[in-house]
Amino acid sequence: METLIAYSTKHGATEKAAKILADKIEGTATLINLKDSSAKSLDLTKFDVVAVGGSIYAGSIQKEVQEFCRENEEILLTKRLGIFICCGNEELVEQQLTASFSEKIFERAIAKGHFGYEFDFEKLSFFSKFIVKKVSKIKESQFRINDENIHAFAETLR
Ligand SMILES: Cc1cc2nc3c(=O)[nH]c(=O)nc-3n(C[C@H](O)[C@H](O)[C@H](O)COP(=O)(O)O)c2cc1C
Repeated sequence: METLIAYSTKHGATEKAAKILADKIEGTATLINLKDSSAKSLDLTKFDVVAVGGSIYAGSIQKEVQEFCRENEEILLTKRLGIFICCGNEELVEQQLTASFSEKIFERAIAKGHFGYEFDFEKLSFFSKFIVKKVSKIKESQFRINDENIHAFAETLR
């Protein structure tokens, strides 16, 4: 079974989670960062399973994820499909996951996951740190990639 894991990330948490997912996938897993230029020429026909996701900033998933899903919606709807997000606000997971994908993609997805989050203060800009401290009241780095959720997601996609 050939699986594609297509993701976008700003500070690396989603990439970390996507790599953990790749290790848990049965068969061959191909990882692609949707910010890479090679993502444009991806041939989706050879994949049986596609997992697509990104991280949430100010309520929205990266535009590359939105574009990828929009441009490939028809073929994605024919796959065993999984969608996932990394996001820091656990209370808004459902809402943000729903808002990140079209209704058709959301309905078609057999696996829907929250892969946890990271706030890595070493990587955040001064402005981002300011926002995080103010909005989330987080004062130092947090590394909360959710291995259990990633595992459950991989199991569902089998
Ligand atoms: C400036 C900023 C804004 C954020 N906005 C949201 C948000 O609106 N909702 C949320 O749940 N998490 C939010 N987060 C948390 C990120 O989604 C989380 O840190 C995620 O792990 C980032 O993944 P990445 O490193 O792959 O980009 C925000 C984080 C930062 C730094």
